[in-house]
Amino acid sequence: MKQKIVVITGGNSGIGKAAAVQIAQKGHKVIIACRSQQRGEAALADIRQQASSQDVELMLVDMSLQSSIRAFAEAFLARYQVLDVLIQNAALFDIRQKQIAFTEEGVEKVWATNHVGPVLLTDLLLEALQRSEQGRIITISSKGLIAHPFLKVDLADPEFRQRKFSVEKAYYQSKQAQVMYTYWLAKQLAGTAVTTNAIRVTNVRIDVDKRYPNMPTLLRKMYALKSKFSIAPEEMAQTYTYLALSPEVAKTNGRYFDDPEHRVDSPAYTHEWANIEKVMQVTRGFIKEPASA
Ligand SMILES: NC(=O)c1ccc[n+]([C@@H]2O[C@H](COP(=O)([O-])OP(=O)(O)OC[C@H]3O[C@@H](n4cnc5c(N)ncnc54)[C@H](OP(=O)(O)O)[C@@H]3O)[C@@H](O)[C@H]2O)c1
Repeated sequence: MKQKIVVITGGNSGIGKAAAVQIAQKGHKVIIACRSQQRGEAALADIRQQASSQDVELMLVDMSLQSSIRAFAEAFLARYQVLDVLIQNAALFDIRQKQIAFTEEGVEKVWATNHVGPVLLTDLLLEALQRSEQGRIITISSKGLIAHPFLKVDLADPEFRQRKFSVEKAYYQSKQAQVMYTYWLAKQLAGTAVTTNAIRVTNVRIDVDKRYPNMPTLLRKMYALKSKFSIAPEEMAQTYTYLALSPEVAKTNGRYFDDPEHRVDSPAYTHEWANIEKVMQVTRGFIKEPASA
């Protein structure tokens, strides 16, 4: 078996961490790309121990900040020429958030973290993915989109500057944009050895006390009820691992998966090429040249 190099953003928690364990257990090198040194180091120790592998590393990145993504990519490329798998797992969805928030670079945080950041990260690592025998980019969306069948990316105002902010709307808009981005990227990659596919993550158990400390009692009760119907991160991570490593999907490009056996589809709106192009045009407008350029 040829060892692969796999980057998992947000690999310090939940599904990303479980995928890091599974992929490292199979003998591959895993780099968890996390925003917190402390949480990253704690996860690193756990992953190494659970996977019985020392071939797991921590690198820091804040996916909401383009400067941080650029610094991460530079640090990665200084050490590695090749990247085999990029799993764009990190995402922001803080159900306690009531007010709109902007990054220090001036972009609305959910849009910046969940959509613009992953697009920039792929841009910066694409050459390394192209140096792989068969590079793979995996994006993450949400089954919760089923409850928003007519959701469109607001091209005039994806950041909620002119409309009332709702963290739920911002989150699902960013996940819809990721699906459309996956279709766009798949078309750019057609005929190359690099593929991209999206995963529709279902209701997966999260560590509520850790993730949302001081959550209001009513929300806590709702979450306790929701978690009765959720699956374990380890179960969902099997789809990540399958798409990252399985030879069965070496040529699969631009698809959307629930689990290894189950391909799903997204609404017609997300397939319409004119819509995809408009979303990508708006997205590109958010990507700034590095300060020194
Ligand atoms: N759980 C579900 O029911 C569900 C449903 C649909 C979709 N999803 C998607 O599945 C993926 C994994 O979610 P999960 O359930 O495993 O949740 P999670 O445990 O909350 O993991 C999210 C990860 O993203 C990281 N992250 C957030 N903002 C970041 C930033 N600016 N820079 C770098 N890392 C950042 C978090 O790091 P910190 O620890 O530093 O915050 C954490 O490691 C996400 O894309 C999520 O949207 C989950």
